[in-house]
Amino acid sequence: MKRLEDISFAGKTVFLRVDFNVPLDEQGGIRDDTRIRASLPTIQYLLEKQAGLVVASHLGRPKGKADPKLSLRPVAKRLGELIGKEITLAPAVVGAEVERLKKGLREGQVLLLENIRYEARETSNDAAFAGELARGIDAYVNDAFGACHRAHASVVAIAQFVKEKAAGLLLQKEVEYLGRAVHSPEKPYVVILGGAKVSDKIPVIENLLDKADHILIGGAMAYTFFKAQGLGVGKSLVEEDKIELALGILEKAKMKTAGFVLPGDHLLASAIEKDAATEVVSSFPFPADRMAVDIGPETARRYGETIASARMVFWNGPLGVFEIDRFAAGTMKIAEAVAAAPATTIIGGGDSIAAVSKAGVGDRITHISTGGGASLEYLASGTLPGIDALR
Ligand code: 3PG
Repeated sequence: MKRLEDISFAGKTVFLRVDFNVPLDEQGGIRDDTRIRASLPTIQYLLEKQAGLVVASHLGRPKGKADPKLSLRPVAKRLGELIGKEITLAPAVVGAEVERLKKGLREGQVLLLENIRYEARETSNDAAFAGELARGIDAYVNDAFGACHRAHASVVAIAQFVKEKAAGLLLQKEVEYLGRAVHSPEKPYVVILGGAKVSDKIPVIENLLDKADHILIGGAMAYTFFKAQGLGVGKSLVEEDKIELALGILEKAKMKTAGFVLPGDHLLASAIEKDAATEVVSSFPFPADRMAVDIGPETARRYGETIASARMVFWNGPLGVFEIDRFAAGTMKIAEAVAAAPATTIIGGGDSIAAVSKAGVGDRITHISTGGGASLEYLASGTLPGIDALR
């Protein structure tokens, strides 16, 4: 995979795929611009090298139709403020007007295409559409780590139409850290997996059972594993259709190197509400009217000790419903333990980032990935379609 330094960009028109899929508030304002900031080094590098940039991103899932609520207009404005330059927002993704704008693009200028998912042919990885995107383009740079698990036209198909292609600085950094976490972790290697769904974590668990020393489980997904063992989990969230899979993982885990650890005590609540009645329990069955909302204090302490012994930590998914303060203690303790560990620490996207920022420890984490689904898929398979396309 080529790096930016391997290509001369002067005077070239570069198609830059980024992941500016930022969270929006009710009024359509940007709630968190982390993903825009994360690609600034690449944008600045290319502009300094005197390229003209055609920048493309998706925002949400408009399903192949223009949706003004998912326009990249607020993104264009924020990007312009951040780089101190006028950004031209194209009225569409492809078409005559876009071609005219592309042709008029000069060195050091930025043309942002409208939401690439306004076109259905983006998500179907359509080759003809990718060819249109590549028209008039001299080099392709992918900096959209968060979208690299999607075999979409601007991530995969486009690469065959452009001779010169490279990973952007963000993608390069993501691959460097997550690559270590999947291919050559420092030992002891502790993996912490939480969140609601067991389904999106199963391939990661399967792949890391041989690589990690400890896999610590928390969040609602733990209760699918308990239910799979025939234990009564009250009204805790369970993925009934994943029980067989969970049982399979428990069987495999017995034969593997990693210690696969489920919580030993649990904070139960009558409902996911801030005033709900709560209790800590360490045995089954749970009362029928209670659900697990956090790991218990003893589990948080035990997990904290394991994390303190690590040389590498990968964490994806909160350990409980941390958005409610009374249910946040376990996740906050884990965030603090990860921050304090004498280890390379990597946080994989989404809710875990929110948890780390709630705990105020973001600046003590080695690498916070911009990819949620992408970081999980990368850890499960060691590569992604968008990365393969650059090779
Ligand atoms: C993300 O938010 O994880 C990426 O931008 C990918 O978005 P998607 O799940 O809609 O493909």
